[in-house]
Amino acid sequence: MIEFQQLLENYQEGKALPQQFYTNEKIFSEEMKRIYFKQWLMVDHVSRIPNPGDYFVFEAEKESIIIIRGRDEKIRAFYNVCTHRGSRICLEEEGTKKLLVCPYHAWSFSAEGDLKAARYMPEDFKKEEWGLKKCHLKIHEGLIFINLSLEEPMDFDEFIGPLKEMLEFHQTSKARIATRKKYPTEANFKLVLENFQECYHCGPAHPELCSIHEKDWVYTMGAGVNTAPEKDTKEYLDKIQPWIEECKSKGVPSDTYLESEDGLRKGLNRYVDRTPIGNGHLSQTKDGKPASSLMGKFSEFDGGLTQVSFNPFGCCYLTNDFVVMFIFKPVSIDYSEVELVWLVGDQAEEGKDYQSDDVSYMWDVTTQADTTIIENNQKGVYSRAFAPGILSENESAVTYFYDWYFTNMKMGSN
Ligand code: FES
Ligand SMILES: [Fe+2]
Repeated sequence: MIEFQQLLENYQEGKALPQQFYTNEKIFSEEMKRIYFKQWLMVDHVSRIPNPGDYFVFEAEKESIIIIRGRDEKIRAFYNVCTHRGSRICLEEEGTKKLLVCPYHAWSFSAEGDLKAARYMPEDFKKEEWGLKKCHLKIHEGLIFINLSLEEPMDFDEFIGPLKEMLEFHQTSKARIATRKKYPTEANFKLVLENFQECYHCGPAHPELCSIHEKDWVYTMGAGVNTAPEKDTKEYLDKIQPWIEECKSKGVPSDTYLESEDGLRKGLNRYVDRTPIGNGHLSQTKDGKPASSLMGKFSEFDGGLTQVSFNPFGCCYLTNDFVVMFIFKPVSIDYSEVELVWLVGDQAEEGKDYQSDDVSYMWDVTTQADTTIIENNQKGVYSRAFAPGILSENESAVTYFYDWYFTNMKMGSN
């Protein structure tokens, strides 16, 4: 433990993290306790489970959570752990069930989590005491969030507060899933998250993203509000001010939000920004043309991109016509999973109003490239010759991420 504390204390600001942070099991398990299990995690969209009995299983670290719609239409989350002797109950990733029957000794639970049947139990056995263990769940604007804390989690209303206005405007509640894709990644989750906190790599790795977005956006906003040094971001925001004013005059919220110092200390790490895609493009598509019909409260295409980040483990990028949900899951010390879910308006029809391939094009090709560069990063980090290098000025959001990471790691596991 002393060695672990020392590692935290020894980190040199302005540099990448030392090798142990990507290879040491003890660090991984502390990160889960001190950070991951405390966060509100965006896990999916309600349209994945439209009917009573529909469920899916969310897996991260060693945890497995059943998210299921009850007969009362309410969505609940339960640990996928049988209250008899602990077996996994749902072995498939998704499906529809009237009863959740444990495959071991057939204890059977309702979609509301109550134990309904258990054979040969003593007479004084009280079924009502052996329901499934609940996992914290909240739904906001159609997005499902869970919190893996076994205690009272951080206040959801406080967490979602600064992000509400933008999500309400985009009306993610009036959306449905167009398509989804998983990107299994042989790397520590921090390499995945760090990569998403910078667009320094966008020039070399993402020709598609760079041809869709304006160059200045890639430099200053490619990884959210603090992608570049403050003065450069301010210059960019000044330049797009007329566009922002025009959006505001049409009632489109366009203010940026960046986490406060106080928020960082509470484990929060959120941002919101809204900027033009640029190059005359109306959407994040190959040719810049819309890929689907207008969503949310927009009355016309304004070519904007909204970034709403809940924490480094999940965010939504929202254009006028579709939404991409990014879900980053730590699984083990050197394996992570990235899942992307694309939403379109709930009235949009595939083939008529949109083609899934057009909607998913940019972030699919970009995330495939990211998977490759992240895995290459992990391979290099394993080397005995690896030593942390100096971060560039275009990796300010990585510095910010480390700040949040160390603040929370040092705060302990309570
Ligand atoms: S472990 Fe589930 S019924 Fe025995
Ligand atoms: Fe990338």
